[in-house]
Amino acid sequence: MRAIAVTRLDGPSAVEVVDIDEPAGDGLVVIDVHAAGVAFPDALLTRGLYQYKPPPPFVPGSEVAGIVRSAPAGASVKAGDRVVAISGLGGGMAEVAALQPNLVFPLPDNVSLEAGAGLLFNDLTVHFALRTRGGLKDGETVLVHGAAGGIGTSVLRLAPALGAGRTIAVVSTEEKAETARAAGATDVVLTDGWLAAVKELTGGRGVDIVVDPVGGDRFTDSIRSLTRSGRVLVLGFTAGDIPSVKVNRLLLNNVDVRGVGWGAWFMSDPGYLAEQWAEVGPLLESGKIPAPEPVVYPLDAAAEAIASLENRTAKGKVVLRVRS
Ligand SMILES: NC(=O)c1ccc[n+]([C@@H]2O[C@H](COP(=O)([O-])OP(=O)(O)OC[C@H]3O[C@@H](n4cnc5c(N)ncnc54)[C@H](OP(=O)(O)O)[C@@H]3O)[C@@H](O)[C@H]2O)c1
Repeated sequence: MRAIAVTRLDGPSAVEVVDIDEPAGDGLVVIDVHAAGVAFPDALLTRGLYQYKPPPPFVPGSEVAGIVRSAPAGASVKAGDRVVAISGLGGGMAEVAALQPNLVFPLPDNVSLEAGAGLLFNDLTVHFALRTRGGLKDGETVLVHGAAGGIGTSVLRLAPALGAGRTIAVVSTEEKAETARAAGATDVVLTDGWLAAVKELTGGRGVDIVVDPVGGDRFTDSIRSLTRSGRVLVLGFTAGDIPSVKVNRLLLNNVDVRGVGWGAWFMSDPGYLAEQWAEVGPLLESGKIPAPEPVVYPLDAAAEAIASLENRTAKGKVVLRVRS
């Protein structure tokens, strides 16, 4: 089968299209992959900078969409079903994936395979962040940094369906502001001067939840942007630096900083993903959560696709078309 391989840790430009054996499928759901999602960890993996450091050569890609070729007895999907699946820490950017049944879910008919490949990883992370860790309540205001990115656009699509009354997107450029608006942001502010703009937008009150996949030097301002009982949700550090928190700020303003590690959570609770899909799947099917509109690259352009996340030019979710 054709696949993308990281053969040396020299960054996205060093990934190669290779021919490798199909994975063994005993006891697993075997999927003919039509599209594979690209996420920030894929860029880090190409340089050996992610917390998980597989030795090259390896196939990156944490999520796929495709058609089931075969499924073991007892699986909730069967041959011929359109599905989305979590491929975990790699293996998604290939024509065939063989995955544990608890990682595979039926894709609603109204969502294309390419859109499907761009939703599971981020949408279930964001569902976990807002519901389980963030305790989102009806009518609350959710601010998201890196709002035109994969996680960011997922927050903008999901938060209203999960009860948020308002979403505020923080982005670095006017072009990305358009992406955030298209994903459903109520308000959009530029990174430069974002805290003052948010105070003004909220009449001085602040926001209930900050979703932060970016980290870096804006972190203290994120704490300052919260209203009483507000929560900053820590998802990642695309800016590079891991910020520190002066905990006096938490007691002075009665606010929380909460870690969000979706992978660690679902790996210690094998039924958790199915519980999440039981809520997110029907919301996608009914259109209450709009499907993502990913930027789609052909498999041969995987290097460019992964580089767009590293060089910060990606707008919205990025997906690879694996088969036409
Ligand atoms: N904790 C979890 O369970 C979990 C699960 C999934 C993903 N994540 C993490 O979430 C983060 C976001 O992933 P993603 O797939 O949404 O990435 P993405 O699509 O590349 O978006 C990240 C955004 O970060 C902003 N950014 C700020 N400084 C940057 C820099 N120096 N380089 C690149 N981007 C920068 C960019 O927005 P602006 O240009 O507008 O600032 C960009 O749109 C990653 O750290 C990923 O590992 C965490």
